[in-house]
Amino acid sequence: MRVTVNDLTYAYTQKPVLSHVSFTLASGDFLTVIGQNGSGKSTLIKCLLGILKVPDETIFLDDVDINNLKRLYNVGYVPQKSEFNYEFPITVKELLSSAFHQIRKNSHYNNVINQLDLNRFYHENINNLSGGQLQRVFIARALINDPKLLVLDEPTVGVDTININVFIEILRKLKEQNITIILITHDRHLAEDLTDYYLELDEFLNYSFYKVGENK
Ligand SMILES: Nc1ncnc2c1ncn2[C@@H]1O[C@H](COP(=O)(O)OP(=O)(O)OP(=O)(O)O)[C@@H](O)[C@H]1O
Ligand SMILES: [Mg+2]
Repeated sequence: MRVTVNDLTYAYTQKPVLSHVSFTLASGDFLTVIGQNGSGKSTLIKCLLGILKVPDETIFLDDVDINNLKRLYNVGYVPQKSEFNYEFPITVKELLSSAFHQIRKNSHYNNVINQLDLNRFYHENINNLSGGQLQRVFIARALINDPKLLVLDEPTVGVDTININVFIEILRKLKEQNITIILITHDRHLAEDLTDYYLELDEFLNYSFYKVGENK
């Protein structure tokens, strides 16, 4: 999926959090977003996902203005960990199957479950999982509908090394399938060999968008 951000400025209150941000991604591009706490990373992707309202002609997905899209079936999203209500009583199976669109293939659903090794706790209540296990469930939820754009907000926080490696290999396969990936992380080396572009934000409303290997 192509992504175009055209002069995006966003403010929750009077004070802007993002100022005149522009960049474009082609299908299959991998963008790593970095920046200190509070620099606007999560805000940026919430704008991209239509969670926060932006003016017309600011964000386009495959050349369609996001404000003209009703539901983003082709977009997978792993929200930042702190934004989920863990008290919600639901099993892994219920969480995943309710997010699954039946137009997709069941074999794909099962593959995702197997890849992320979720069978052992598939019938558990999500409150009984460890932090890293739960994070793998959220990664699975983002993948089960075969997204064309995958947006991951610090997805590996709390995930152990083995499962981080599994996750990176999944991203590598998705990139080979020409899926566009946006990864927010505090570790610029996390997916270094997959990254095509970096977007760096800072708390003073500056940003830089640059191709790997090019000086910013
Ligand atoms: N719902 C909100 N209402 C008001 N201000 C908000 C809201 N969400 C975020 N902010 C403010 O916007 C700024 C950017 O927040 P954002 O969550 O985008 O940062 P971030 O780069 O994702 O940080 P972190 O690395 O901590 O996740 C911060 O100053 C934050 O306090
Ligand atoms: Mg954030």
